[in-house]
Amino acid sequence: MVRKCNQKDFEEIFEIINDAAQAYKGVIPQDCWREPYMDMEDLWREIGKGVKFWGYEEGGRLLGVMGIQDVQDVTLIRHAYVRTQNRKQGIGGQLLSFLRTQTKRPILIGTWKDAVWAIKFYEKHGFKLVSRKQKDELLRKYWSISERQIETSVVLSEGKKH
Ligand SMILES: CC(C)(COP(=O)(O)OP(=O)(O)OC[C@H]1O[C@@H](n2cnc3c(N)ncnc32)[C@H](O)[C@@H]1OP(=O)(O)O)[C@@H](O)C(=O)NCCC(=O)NCCS
Repeated sequence: MVRKCNQKDFEEIFEIINDAAQAYKGVIPQDCWREPYMDMEDLWREIGKGVKFWGYEEGGRLLGVMGIQDVQDVTLIRHAYVRTQNRKQGIGGQLLSFLRTQTKRPILIGTWKDAVWAIKFYEKHGFKLVSRKQKDELLRKYWSISERQIETSVVLSEGKKH
């Protein structure tokens, strides 16, 4: 079941993000990796900036989470994470398909250039990598991330004009 997350889910969201983000360890550039990958303060800050989390729940437990954030004239999909044990069962796909129904704006997704599985996952759902020049512009316009993260990230779009 896909449902909206609330304040009570905070610790479980935190746990899922940091479990799932282990996939990045040794894959993304070493200077971009942190342990924990996202600390509680960062997570609060993201929620404060308008990231709304939705979760996939089964048996009273969240197995995956995905955030959605309206920024200027677009909607960003942020922080897509499925527990390591529960991958490749369609959970991420269900969350993504659901979130797509929640906005009429063009959707943009940013991820690490080296997270090839995530790029494949989004491509499977019809998203396309934008050009290098365009992704730099989009990351600067819609995200608040460091130059280093811009350099090491990619952006996927639905192919609609933004
Ligand atoms: C990306 C992620 C959210 C996808 O969730 P999921 O529930 O595993 O995805 P689904 O089961 O709906 O879809 C599976 C598809 O995703 C892609 N995929 C997922 N894991 C993959 C892997 N390890 N290697 C290659 N492709 C992978 C494939 O296209 C796969 O389709 P297939 O089974 O037909 O090959 C999940 O893998 C995850 O949490 N990864 C770690 C964190 C991350 O990379 N998040 C993205 C941040 S933007």
